Amino acid sequence: MPEPLRLGIAGLGTVGTGVVRIVQTHAALIERRTGRQVVISAVSARSRTRNRAVDLSGYAWEDDPVALARREDVDVFVEVMGGSEGVAKAATEAAIAAGKDVVSANKALLAHHGQALAEAAEAKGHVIRFEAAVAGGIPVIKALTEGLAGNEIRRVMGVMNGTCNYILTRMESAGLPYDQVFEEARQLGYLEADPNLDVGGIDAGHKLSLLAAIAFGTRVSFDAVELEGIGRISIDDIRRAGDMGYKIKLLGVAQMTGRGLEQRMTPCLVPADSPLGQLHGGTNMVVLEGDSVGQIVLRGAGAGEGPTASAVLSDVIEIARGTRLSTFGQPAATLTEPVAARAAAPAPYYLRMELADKPGALAKVATVLGEEGISIDRMRQYAHADSTVAPVLIVTHKCTRDAVSHALSRLPATGVVLSEAVSIRIESV
Ligand code: HSE
Repeated sequence: MPEPLRLGIAGLGTVGTGVVRIVQTHAALIERRTGRQVVISAVSARSRTRNRAVDLSGYAWEDDPVALARREDVDVFVEVMGGSEGVAKAATEAAIAAGKDVVSANKALLAHHGQALAEAAEAKGHVIRFEAAVAGGIPVIKALTEGLAGNEIRRVMGVMNGTCNYILTRMESAGLPYDQVFEEARQLGYLEADPNLDVGGIDAGHKLSLLAAIAFGTRVSFDAVELEGIGRISIDDIRRAGDMGYKIKLLGVAQMTGRGLEQRMTPCLVPADSPLGQLHGGTNMVVLEGDSVGQIVLRGAGAGEGPTASAVLSDVIEIARGTRLSTFGQPAATLTEPVAARAAAPAPYYLRMELADKPGALAKVATVLGEEGISIDRMRQYAHADSTVAPVLIVTHKCTRDAVSHALSRLPATGVVLSEAVSIRIESV
C-alpha cells in the first residue's frame, strides 16, 4: 500500500471546512478510488477558536500559512484562503519552494501570478491544480485540459459569477431596481468582501483569463480582459430586452481570432430560449466549443461549500492517483504571449434611447444610424406617461462596435435624443 497523501489546508472558511468534511466522510471512498489514504496533517486559519462544525482535533494547527506550507508532513498544500497578494501568495510560493504540490481555489492569485507560479512548480516537477478556482463545482478545468485535449478550442463562453446572475435574474423576476437587489445580495451574504470583485466583473474576468490560457495555450493575461460590470444595467433594460426575446447576462467570451486573443467579460444579450438565457439565480454555465466536439454546455453551482470543496477534492484525488498534469494543460514555459485583440467581429446590437415625441425625431436617429452603416433589424416605440418623451428600442443587424460608438456619439447633436443612449451587444450563443 503506498504511503498516505498528506494535506495541509490553509483557510477554514466555507470551502476549507467543506474540504475537511469530505476528507472525513469519504475517506473509504477516496481510498478505494486512489489506492491510498488521503489524510489531513495540519490546518491553518485566521481564528483558531471559531466554531466550525467539523472536528479538527486530530490535526496540527499552524497560525502561519507559510509555516504550514513548509511542514515536513505535508505533501499537498491546499490553498483556500483567497486574495491575489499577501499571505496567499507567500504561502503558495513557500509550498512550491519546499517541493509540495499545490491545490488552489484562488482565481485572483492565479490570474495575476499563475505563469510565475506554474513555471516555478514545473521546474521542480510539482503540480498546481485549480479546478475550484473556476465555476465552483463545475469540472471545467478538467473538461478543457483532459476531456477536450484533442480539440482545437474555438470559443469559451460563460456566466461565471453567480452573484451577478442572481442580481440580474432577481431584478427581472421581482421587477426591482439594481440598488435594491444589490442590497438584498449583500444581506444574503452573496457578495465578496469587496463587492466590486463580483459586480465589477473582476472575479468572473479572473476565471475567464484562466480558461483562455488553457484553451489557447497562451500565458494568463487577465490585464487584457475587457471588463465591464453590471452596475449600469437598469430594470428598464432587462424588461425591454425581455420584450425583444433576450436576457441580459454578464457573459465572458474568449476566442482566438486572426488579430489576436479576444477576452471580454461584459453585459451581453443572449436569446431568452438559449441555455445561457435560461440560467437563473446563482448558477454558473460554461460553454466550450471545439473543432471536433462541437459545443458543450456545463452547468452547476459556481460557489458554496459542497460544490467548491468537491472541485478541490477532484484535484487532490488526481494527485493521489499519480496523475501529473501541467498547470495550464501544457508546460508553462511553452505558453505563448498572446496579442490582445479588442472584440471587433460584427454583432447585432440592442440600442435604447428616449426621444422627443415630435415629428421627424425617429427619422433623425435612423439617418445617423444609416450614415454609420448600421441597418435596423427591429424597432419598438413604447407609450410613456409623459407624452413629450418616447422610449425607443432598436435591434440592429450585425455591425461593428466602432460604428455603434460613433453613431451614439452623434446622437446628442440631433437634438431629439433626451438621455444617453444605451447599447448592449447581442451575443450569438
Ligand atoms: N463570488 C463568486 C460568485 C464566487 O458569486 O460566483 C467565487 O468566485
